[in-house]
Amino acid sequence: MKIRNGRVNHIKNPIGYLMEGTPVFTWVTEEAQGKKQTEARILIAEDPDMEKIICDTGFGNLDSLGSPVQIEKKPRTRYYWTVTVRSDAGEEAVSEVYFFETGKEDEKWKGKWIGCSQETDRHPVFYKSFESSKKAVSARLYICGLGLYHAEINGKKVTEEFLTPYCTDYNQWVEYQTYDVTDLLEEKNRIEVTLGAGWYLGRFGFTSQETESCINPYYGDGRFKLIAEVVLTYEDGTEEIIGTDDSWMVSRCNITFSNIYDGERRDDTLPQASEEKAEILGEGESLPLMARLSIPVLRHEILKPVKLLHTPAGEEVFDLGQNFGGIWRLKIHEPKGTKIHIQVGEVLQNDCFYRDNLRSALAEYWYVSDGEEHVLEPQFTFYGYRYAKVEGVSDLTIDSFEGIAVYSDITPAGQWECGKPKLNRLMENIKWGQKSNFIDVPTDCPQRDERMGWTADTQVFVPTASYLTDSWAFYRKFLKDLELDQCEHEGMIPAVVPAFGVDMCCAVWGDAATFIPWYLYKFHGDVSILERQFDSMKSWVDYIEEFDGQDRLWEKKFFYGDWLALDSPKEGKEQIIGGTEEGYISYVYYMASAEIVAKSAEILGKEDIAEEYREKYQKIREHILNEYFTPSGRCAINTMTGHILALHFNLTANRELTVNKLKELLHDAGEKFKTGFVGTPLLAGALSSMGEDKMAYTVLHNEEYPGWLYEINLGATTIWERWNSMEPDGTVSSTGMNSFNHYAYGTIGQWMWETMAGIAADEEKPGFRHAVLRPVPDYRTGWVKAAYDSAAGRYETSWKVLDSTHVNVKVTVPFNCTATLILPFAADEEVKRELTAGTYEITYTLTKSLCGGFSVDSTINEIMECPEAKEELLKIQPGFAMYPARMFNQTVRENLELFSNGADESVLAPIMEQINKAQFS
Ligand code: BGC
Repeated sequence: MKIRNGRVNHIKNPIGYLMEGTPVFTWVTEEAQGKKQTEARILIAEDPDMEKIICDTGFGNLDSLGSPVQIEKKPRTRYYWTVTVRSDAGEEAVSEVYFFETGKEDEKWKGKWIGCSQETDRHPVFYKSFESSKKAVSARLYICGLGLYHAEINGKKVTEEFLTPYCTDYNQWVEYQTYDVTDLLEEKNRIEVTLGAGWYLGRFGFTSQETESCINPYYGDGRFKLIAEVVLTYEDGTEEIIGTDDSWMVSRCNITFSNIYDGERRDDTLPQASEEKAEILGEGESLPLMARLSIPVLRHEILKPVKLLHTPAGEEVFDLGQNFGGIWRLKIHEPKGTKIHIQVGEVLQNDCFYRDNLRSALAEYWYVSDGEEHVLEPQFTFYGYRYAKVEGVSDLTIDSFEGIAVYSDITPAGQWECGKPKLNRLMENIKWGQKSNFIDVPTDCPQRDERMGWTADTQVFVPTASYLTDSWAFYRKFLKDLELDQCEHEGMIPAVVPAFGVDMCCAVWGDAATFIPWYLYKFHGDVSILERQFDSMKSWVDYIEEFDGQDRLWEKKFFYGDWLALDSPKEGKEQIIGGTEEGYISYVYYMASAEIVAKSAEILGKEDIAEEYREKYQKIREHILNEYFTPSGRCAINTMTGHILALHFNLTANRELTVNKLKELLHDAGEKFKTGFVGTPLLAGALSSMGEDKMAYTVLHNEEYPGWLYEINLGATTIWERWNSMEPDGTVSSTGMNSFNHYAYGTIGQWMWETMAGIAADEEKPGFRHAVLRPVPDYRTGWVKAAYDSAAGRYETSWKVLDSTHVNVKVTVPFNCTATLILPFAADEEVKRELTAGTYEITYTLTKSLCGGFSVDSTINEIMECPEAKEELLKIQPGFAMYPARMFNQTVRENLELFSNGADESVLAPIMEQINKAQFS
């Protein structure tokens, strides 16, 4: 038996993170003989040898998904901990020694906020030399520099982190980081901190503007700022603190411009800059410092160019083969004064470099050479790109350039593979969509002049992200931003977080406040997220209630609706809002948020509040039923999304009727969807909830517009913002709002995990302590193999279609977990099995053929769901696709006269044979 993944507040060995309240300990036990944990014990000590114990929980019923342990925490102190687990087979395992270290907590800063003159464009380098009289046994750097900082001690980077101190609502909180710098110190030391503009000082968001000479950012007063403390601890326990003050000096580096959207400029021909003394800033210029919650943004994959293109326009363009978020390195050696220019783009047009869809973002880099050899690498910006155009470099070779993916340090959690290469590519695209948009903030896109924390995009993607990676700590930081922005707006959640001046709010977007903590609870089973976010969740629902008043204003308020859906009856610009009545969607999400608050209150033991919000939920629900449904359960909103919401949120009294109507709408659209940001994430799941997995598969397998594989066929390497971001002939459809790296439609990933791999969480026993395993076989996919490192341990599932009526399934349930295995289309006695930890293999016979096997008693629907069979059917009766879709629920026999021209049933036999054969060819 082994213990791995020991975490405090879901972070491995955190140093200087914000620790509000009681720290929560989590771990995973594996390789056990036993099936269950019988008891566990956490020890916390002051030393790595675990001798000076300050807390012993004793053996008891500790939960590996989240055990809060109360200790008296001192500031700037490292604590060591282990967990011991015992199993029902008599095993005992002790974890390695983990640690967590507190930041400054409430301690006052000795360092002061310092600044410099703003008269030159050259970015400042603050520095200080110091000697340490004795050898320091430990040294820490506590630091925050704005907009962005890059710190070195004795010429060595203090961290591999990038874009520190990260992106927050700087009026509300500014994160400082803590680094262990013990190994960097010598007798004589020099600390140097270079500052860039970043989110705080550069133009960012919709409200800031920038011209050559003037920065007018949304936050801040346009000044570079730094605060830092180097704390040296000597053998005798004494401390020395070197804090920022007016003894620090300021010189200048060769970077003359930087910001997030536009890139960076560096001129190495500039003369040595004059130096000045740093200035202590006034009280009014200091900022609300808090320990960090951002997890490190790091450099990850190195992408070597697949080609160096010489385009018809005479450009030299590196193709990295993958769209992504990050930076690059370029080797150069050019004569002094040579100007080098790098621009990036996501796609080519007419085989030439293209970047019009980045809107006003310049996304470039300028460099003036000093004649020496250099490897250029941007320091204070990032890009979203696949292609890089380089000008001014002679003799470029394919080895001169490489891309560097940059994103928050999320641990991969899921491996998923299937028998259809295009679906594997789709899963890759979803992963790259996540990586590219997890740069400290969950963004809409990484390339154009936006890159902001749009709350709906974030909300809908959480389940998919939670299968792909352990994203708890990443989202925890976002929820802190959300909660602080909300406080500033009296309960309202801005559509963008951090808000950067966006003051509007609306349904689905704002419901991020309730949905995200709930998803995190469901995926991780750690109740602390509900405790931490409860006030925020409740305030959001209270805000809607107040806004709504007696006149149901919430239903009438403007909102983005089923954003970018294809079913709007309106012309022009308004089309982007989709055809599903916005008031209906608003109210459905209002209801769902009230329900989440009620359920969370119940879990937290706040029974009165739970009751109050259950009542609210009921009332909103009644209103929706009265307004948008007939008494027998027919949904009056005649769109796919209307019906998807009815099924997903359990609104209809007649689910059968509703799913049939949804299928009709899909048939009418040629087995394709027309849904947007609201409907798409829930579409396949809504079908599967009614056993209509085959239809969901059909929609997924569709290779034409609109569809996921349409994008793949056009060479997509990430998920697009619009279903038609690119036209079938490869032209970019529009430039106003058209990103090739928007993860919202990547939410199909959730269904690919839940239904194709068949690994789903169970809300009643969250964190995958219990899972529902329902892998749904599909002959077009052939096989699926998946492994998911859930919060509770590793689940594995795989299935393979042996022939049209036989499937082989393997599943593994981790230690201390249980699962319900459901085998779709299996004979009755085998359909459902309750499993404990272990590995199981079953080959079973299907009651219904996966392909072929159609008879005159098959419904037209069933035949139409198999593309090959459908093609055959349409050959026999070409006009059939035009018939009203409701007829498709009838059998072939019921439509005899259509197929047989008045003859009897026997003429159908060869037709059915033909249809059945088609699928195997
Ligand atoms: C963003 C979206 C966002 C939307 C709001 C866009 O500009 O890129 O993804 O949710 O605005 O409607």
